[in-house]
Amino acid sequence: MDTQRRNQYLEAIGVDVWVRRRGGALADVRLLAATVDVQAAPADSPAAAVPIARAPVEPVSGEVPAQWEALRTEVMSCTKCSLNTTRTQGVLGVGPQRTDWMVIGEAPGAEEDRKGEPFVGRGGQLLDAMLRAIGLSRATNVYIANVLKSRPPGNRDPKPDEVAACLPYLIRQIALLQPRVMLAVGRIAAQNLLSTDVPLGRLRGKVHRFGELNTPLIVTYHPAYLLRTPADKRKAWEDLKFARSVFRQLTDGVPIDGDRS
Ligand code: URA
Repeated sequence: MDTQRRNQYLEAIGVDVWVRRRGGALADVRLLAATVDVQAAPADSPAAAVPIARAPVEPVSGEVPAQWEALRTEVMSCTKCSLNTTRTQGVLGVGPQRTDWMVIGEAPGAEEDRKGEPFVGRGGQLLDAMLRAIGLSRATNVYIANVLKSRPPGNRDPKPDEVAACLPYLIRQIALLQPRVMLAVGRIAAQNLLSTDVPLGRLRGKVHRFGELNTPLIVTYHPAYLLRTPADKRKAWEDLKFARSVFRQLTDGVPIDGDRS
């Protein structure tokens, strides 16, 4: 990753990260990425953002692309809830058809509804920067989807009947993707995936499990919340590092620490 881009991600995340220069003093990577030896950066630094997932994980079997296509067609023509009368289009998701990482948000907003892709507004730019900081990108190794595939008018919270109608699509996406780690961003995604009303703050910092495959699921803040509350970006960065460490434990074949300590 080139220096200028890395600095932009760090800028967007708004986290000051300090790394040790070869033989010397601590330095802010945002200012000094050009001179820092990335290999020497500590494990919790975005400067250590070497890719942590491969893409694709394994060859996609013949049927999988067809199943994705069928799913996309169904979502585009879905009339299971009334949101189809107000949306521009259904928004299925974006990313490789098989990959290790999956990010799940709430529902398309105005820009997503227009463009047909999740997280393309300001929140999406922040999400991309957060993911980049741990070596992930929607173009190569993370799939991004939402609980709802249609935009609720005025970006109101999804209604229970809308979630109930749409969740089967997400379940099918997860089954096709078979991610090794899932990241739920925001309360709506976290609570619906975990079938709980526990507040988001209490869901963070733990490895939850999702579905029959017991896929590890980590919870963090929604990017839109972080844009409103930049002071919590540091906590989101802790969550991302936690997710990255869970993934590394998985790939190393060691037991997963269920709690961030
Ligand atoms: N917020 C979400 O949760 N998802 C999007 O796709 C856009 C904004």
